Amino acid sequence: MNTNQPSREEAFSLLKRYNQSESLIKHALAVEAVMRHFAGLYGEDAEKWGTIGLIHDLDYEKYPDQHCTMTKKILEDEKWPEDHIRAVLSHGWGMCSDVEPVHDMEKVLFTIDELTGLVTASVLVRPSCSIMDLEVSSVKKKWKMKAFAAGANREVIEKGAAMMGRDLDFVIRETINGMKKVAAELGLMG
Ligand SMILES: [Fe+2]
Ligand SMILES: [Fe+2]
Repeated sequence: MNTNQPSREEAFSLLKRYNQSESLIKHALAVEAVMRHFAGLYGEDAEKWGTIGLIHDLDYEKYPDQHCTMTKKILEDEKWPEDHIRAVLSHGWGMCSDVEPVHDMEKVLFTIDELTGLVTASVLVRPSCSIMDLEVSSVKKKWKMKAFAAGANREVIEKGAAMMGRDLDFVIRETINGMKKVAAELGLMG
């Protein structure tokens, strides 16, 4: 087994090799930033958590019907460490993989993946188009509107927050805080 941890640079160039879509790259950057942020809160390895966040949807543009399965194959071919592959697969637990999130890193990834989409959509309908002063309450208002950002599965986020043992307010607040750090790259500065 290769125990070398892939660098951020390696992960990003692999991501770019398989993805051209600007929105998918932005999603990857958002999830990376939030993973890094939570790693800081948990006192864990921000580089590792961030890299896993960055690469989690690697196969989605080219192989949407084989989501997770193809990422597993690609990362194995690239000789990525097993714990990285496991964590990436766990984001699709019950959807495109049967790998249950067990570690904190996996639980956080599972929880915040869909949430970054809801936060992004919540920012884009604001007159300011900025995340910098986005309140948790404004995301929660949108949360209740089922047709709003319908692709962001609220049940998955709730299930994830329960696994993390955290309330939704905390998870939403810290997801916003993580995304703020890359607001310019995400086009969420207004
Ligand atoms: Fe995914
Ligand atoms: Fe994702």
